[in-house]
Amino acid sequence: MAIQYERSRAATGTADRSIERMQFDMGERGINHVLVTGGAGFIGSHVVDRLLETGCRVTVIDNLANGRMSNIRHHSGNSAFQFVRGSILNRRLVGELMQACDRVINMATLGVRHSIRYPFQNHRLNAEGALLLLEAAREHGIKKFIQISSSEVYGTAVQVPQNENHRTFPHTIYGASKLAGDTYTRACWSTYRFPTVIVRPFNTFGPRSHYEGDAGEFIPKSIVRALNGLPILIFGDGKQTRDLSYVTDIADGIVRVCESGDVIGETINLGCGNEYKIIDIARKILKLAGSGTIEFQEKRPGDVTRLFADASHARECIGYRPRVDFDEGLKRTVEWFRSQNVRAMIRKETGRNWE
Ligand SMILES: NC(=O)c1ccc[n+]([C@@H]2O[C@H](COP(=O)([O-])OP(=O)(O)OC[C@H]3O[C@@H](n4cnc5c(N)ncnc54)[C@H](O)[C@@H]3O)[C@@H](O)[C@H]2O)c1
Repeated sequence: MAIQYERSRAATGTADRSIERMQFDMGERGINHVLVTGGAGFIGSHVVDRLLETGCRVTVIDNLANGRMSNIRHHSGNSAFQFVRGSILNRRLVGELMQACDRVINMATLGVRHSIRYPFQNHRLNAEGALLLLEAAREHGIKKFIQISSSEVYGTAVQVPQNENHRTFPHTIYGASKLAGDTYTRACWSTYRFPTVIVRPFNTFGPRSHYEGDAGEFIPKSIVRALNGLPILIFGDGKQTRDLSYVTDIADGIVRVCESGDVIGETINLGCGNEYKIIDIARKILKLAGSGTIEFQEKRPGDVTRLFADASHARECIGYRPRVDFDEGLKRTVEWFRSQNVRAMIRKETGRNWE
């Protein structure tokens, strides 16, 4: 089935509304053909790498709001891979793409800091976008729908480690809209027996992570600042903790969920099961960067103070075992940033990136 897209306007409500003109042969409905939304992003692009390694065909839909072509360019020329620039809020487009796929992994997201300035836009993508995809996936007979959620749906830990039954008490519109996406996903399983799984990664870091604009996260922002001789910014006292996983481990967990026959209807945390203080991470980054200082500023709005995963369910149901420990992962991440143009990167690192 050949599909041709003209540059067109879709009623998306997001900044990037265009679909690039492209033509490709979708083939028959694929077995082992996965539609990855947000697949040009940080974690999504590592999921794409892993899916292709395991022999799947992959279609990525991403509007490049935060994703980058450089994250996926190494697959150009691979006949098992195709990229479509467009929005998941374009129902006609996602429906057409789903005709060739048997599974969907929904990773398209606008992030935590984005939600502080643009709450409604954030809600539209994370909550309504998930529902729109679920509806399209049901209509097109998708065999498994994997909703990538976030530990932010839990809010600050009130019991540790946090298993999948921890209360959900998000602090931000991002966390709330991701939780809405989760509840729609679960409702589709309960009401229609449409096969869904919810995956909740805890904080993730590694190559291709965001240092820039409102997508920027603490570790990549701090590495870029330290490598440019600027102080690392800590918002609050630095005693906040995070459960941090290296990105290839999280991607491996997501692909395991995609391949497993026994996870339908489940909610599965992915994390390392260790908590790290922000201040200790900053010190490690300074050591790897060779020098630098830390500057403390007032707390970020909506910041959670403690995240600490119980990933035993993932271990039991998909054999999930993180392979890269935190220190090794941080070393690799600093090396990756050193190999990039960090002098240019610093121009896009915006410090207080929610204002
Ligand atoms: N990075 C983390 O630490 C972390 C932790 C927990 C959960 N997650 C979840 O993992 C998933 C991936 O996150 P990430 O860190 O790779 O973020 P990311 O921003 O790198 O990826 C999201 C992608 O979605 C794309 N996108 C945005 N709007 C879109 C639209 N309208 N249509 C199509 N694509 C659109 C962006 O361009 C981007 O490539 C998300 O579901 C996120 O909630 C991430």
